[in-house]
Amino acid sequence: MHKTHHCGELRAEHAGQRVLVAGWVHRRRDHGGLIFFDLRDRSGLVQIVTNPEGALAAHQVAESVRSEHVVQVGGHVRLRPEGLANPNLPTGQVEIVAESVVVLNPSRTPPIPIDTDGRNVDETLRLKYRYLDLRRERMQRNMLVRHCVCKFMRDFLDRHGFVEIETPILIKSTPEGARDYVVPSRVQAGKFYALPQSPQQLKQLLMVAGYERYFQIARCFRDEDMRGDRQPEFTQLDLEMSFADRDDILGLVEQLLTEMMPVVAPASRKRIISPFPRLSHAEAMARFGVDKPDLRFGMELANLSGALSQSDFKVFRQAIETEGQVKAICAPGCAGYSRRELDELAAVAQAQGAKGLATLAFAAEGAKGPAAKFLKEGEIAQIAQATGAQSGDLVCLVADAPAVVAKSLGALRLTLRDRLNLAPPDLLAFGWVIDFPMFEWNEEEKRWDAAHHPFTMPKQEHLDILESDPARVLSDAYDLVCNGYELASGSIRIHRRDIQQRIFSILNYSPEEAQARFGHMLEAFEYGAPPHGGMAPGIDRLVMLLCDEPSIREVIAFPKTASASDLMTDAPSPIEEKQLKELHLNIRP
Ligand code: AMO
Ligand code: AMP
Repeated sequence: MHKTHHCGELRAEHAGQRVLVAGWVHRRRDHGGLIFFDLRDRSGLVQIVTNPEGALAAHQVAESVRSEHVVQVGGHVRLRPEGLANPNLPTGQVEIVAESVVVLNPSRTPPIPIDTDGRNVDETLRLKYRYLDLRRERMQRNMLVRHCVCKFMRDFLDRHGFVEIETPILIKSTPEGARDYVVPSRVQAGKFYALPQSPQQLKQLLMVAGYERYFQIARCFRDEDMRGDRQPEFTQLDLEMSFADRDDILGLVEQLLTEMMPVVAPASRKRIISPFPRLSHAEAMARFGVDKPDLRFGMELANLSGALSQSDFKVFRQAIETEGQVKAICAPGCAGYSRRELDELAAVAQAQGAKGLATLAFAAEGAKGPAAKFLKEGEIAQIAQATGAQSGDLVCLVADAPAVVAKSLGALRLTLRDRLNLAPPDLLAFGWVIDFPMFEWNEEEKRWDAAHHPFTMPKQEHLDILESDPARVLSDAYDLVCNGYELASGSIRIHRRDIQQRIFSILNYSPEEAQARFGHMLEAFEYGAPPHGGMAPGIDRLVMLLCDEPSIREVIAFPKTASASDLMTDAPSPIEEKQLKELHLNIRP
């Protein structure tokens, strides 16, 4: 036996007991006669003390141990002397007086520190030596929260009659909006599998197969541009229900998350607001400028198009006359912003396509700013009223096409959130965004794309304008948002062949193409497909928010870099000529 106890579990009540512990040397302090070191295992730290009078051999080994050596210590637990207890350490009341110290395996000096939270350590090194990086307390906590989240999900869904079913990784391409990762077939020259962007089609086919309630903690693969909240492979809680409507699905996921919070709360210390607010896609865009609003604070967009339609300021009037808008947000207490600060705000708006940013600094005497001289007193009063601006506040206005106004003020709102610390850090503000548009116009390719995916059911009342007015068609798609992130997406699905075919044809698939790519779905819908729907929360993003981490890389054991590399194993890497040949592949020079 290597250990009788875990390091982190020893308490005052263990005083007097003989114990055997094993782990890594965390920190070592030589105090002349006495040597102290902290021994760490997954459960935490405990202080070891050796003294040459007590056990000379153990003391001599302790003299030689260094950080990250793996050692085993036998000894007895004692209360630390008066005044030397460490209240910050769960084991801080006790220490182990060593009688034996055995080095099970020494360690080279680690290339990265392990006794810090790692935030100031070069991430390239952290990823190259991920097995060391994962030893740090912060990372172990993150992995544990992730484990608790997945365990809770499994247990909850089991209680609610869901069956966990695995679906294949080598499949046929399924369109989820990103590029596929593909795998060449050896036995069938020139043919490829695609890795699933999600189990979307398979889970729908499981509904056709009569399973009624399916879930899977599913790995998804997407070859897309990486960001802090995106990885080429990531994990979804994928679920699907038959004979369920939208509110059944939203209700179930809301209940899951609400009941999960107290279970993971001790580690994450986050609170939520119940019930989750619901807003339509149109409302989210109008009030927050984005479809994944951060609901932790106000600063909503005010529409001034009515108030300013007769304005002498040409920029405003012209925008309104050409089907554009003027909208504004109010930055509390920012009236004193310097030229430089105002330029920084303008740059944020311009990066999103705005031609400029007009600002009005409100003071007791009235409003000042480059645009003020063009505005009548009544207009300024209406701006103040619509935005809630008071003396000391700064109003930021953008005039442009609605999409540009939304994007630029939406981005500005988040910039001001960070500058002014408007978001309570302990709050997870979940919310539902519903009634998404069914289609999005793809300007580059001059055709309609599915806003969610092609299997999403259009709203019943819009079925007769599908072809005639696709821009107006809403769907039964919904997102779960939290603190400015999209956490989950889902929809009620099409379960009838005729509707599915109409959607494919609006998406510009010829009947032959639709048959070649999705013939199995179309056919399945002819054999008694039940009405069904589902959704898929992203587990990485959820755990990131629970752990207060800035990136999903911090909650994935072995993540990839922005260029999709694994720095530890050095993937992707070339393969041998022999392998290429077997796979019928040539690399283009
Ligand atoms: P969607 O494509 O919106 O929907 O994905 C659902 C959720 O998965 C997470 N996610 C990601 N997380 C990390 N890295 C990525 N690259 C990444 N891409 C997506 C997000 C997102 O909200 N089959 C549908 C779901 C359904 O309709 O049931 C789907 O995959 O949290
Ligand atoms: P200009 O007429 O270009 O000198 O702009 C006068 C002020 O209006 C400047 O502060 C500009 O940043 C601002 N402005 C210009 N275009 C827009 C726009 N589309 N929306 C809001 N403000 C603008």
